[in-house]
Amino acid sequence: MATIAANLSRRLEGKVAIITGGASGIGEATVGLFTKHGAKVIVADISKKVPQSFSPDVTYAQCDVSREEDVSAAVDLAMEKHGKLDIMFNNAGTVDKKNSKAMEYDMEEFQRVMNVNIKGVMHGIKHAARVMVPRKNGCIISTASMAGIVGGLGPYAYTSSKHAIIGLTKQGAAEMGRYGIRVNCVSPAALATDITLQFFGKDNPMSLEEIRANWEAFCDKVANLKDHTLRAQDIAEAALYLASEESKFVSGHNLVVDGGNSVVNHDLGLYQ
Ligand SMILES: NC(=O)c1ccc[n+]([C@@H]2O[C@H](COP(=O)([O-])OP(=O)(O)OC[C@H]3O[C@@H](n4cnc5c(N)ncnc54)[C@H](O)[C@@H]3O)[C@@H](O)[C@H]2O)c1
Repeated sequence: MATIAANLSRRLEGKVAIITGGASGIGEATVGLFTKHGAKVIVADISKKVPQSFSPDVTYAQCDVSREEDVSAAVDLAMEKHGKLDIMFNNAGTVDKKNSKAMEYDMEEFQRVMNVNIKGVMHGIKHAARVMVPRKNGCIISTASMAGIVGGLGPYAYTSSKHAIIGLTKQGAAEMGRYGIRVNCVSPAALATDITLQFFGKDNPMSLEEIRANWEAFCDKVANLKDHTLRAQDIAEAALYLASEESKFVSGHNLVVDGGNSVVNHDLGLYQ
């Protein structure tokens, strides 16, 4: 009994992970949770701001996921420092600068988002595969979104890029199942992190904390599952499940963390 409890509290003991976009929000929460569970983590983020929350088990690498050489270098760093890579979490993402209508859409902006959200994830899958396939071991997770399964929850490039991440996940699972490598993604509903607060609070004169409080109140109002506000920690817990032994036969899966919002419709008011 004591052994089971110990295993559950150190679910990633001895594992090596890369977390892109680990300097903030969902990524930062996942860095904290993975290290608490015994993993060594390389954070690969474009930001120069290294969070103070990082433990000595975290190595920081500045990396723009849209640049293949940066992602490749982060994987090489994991190999040089720890000799292996067990978990690749392709979590970094960006959003369109504004919610343009189709006929006004700036195609350079479209390309910028695709470069980060789709190419960035593909770079992660490619270079993780480079070191995982020879070992016939590993697990790749990406952050998609509820906007990756439903239209109208984000701007054009963001929505379509998040749909594409689910496709990349299924394709990766198809190719790499034979090597024992699992490929999954996690799809959060909206939560208050920098990416959403900057997008929705752009022209708002309120303080960041006020915007955060308003945004969370709005999310709570539209939520199907009440009495809980979705936070980055909840997505980190989902990533931990996908990274750990508990999900050993789960691959090609999109773990939607939205309290049921994408699969229920309250238009008829049956349960109001
Ligand atoms: N917050 C939400 O409501 C929500 C919902 C669904 C999905 N997501 C997804 O979750 C992921 C994490 O976002 P978050 O909510 O934690 O936001 P966040 O803004 O707090 O974190 C995003 C991180 O990605 C990094 N980043 C951005 N572009 C990068 C690049 N080119 N290369 C490397 N790092 C880069 C940023 O520096 C930042 O640290 C994103 O993929 C986002 O699309 C967020």
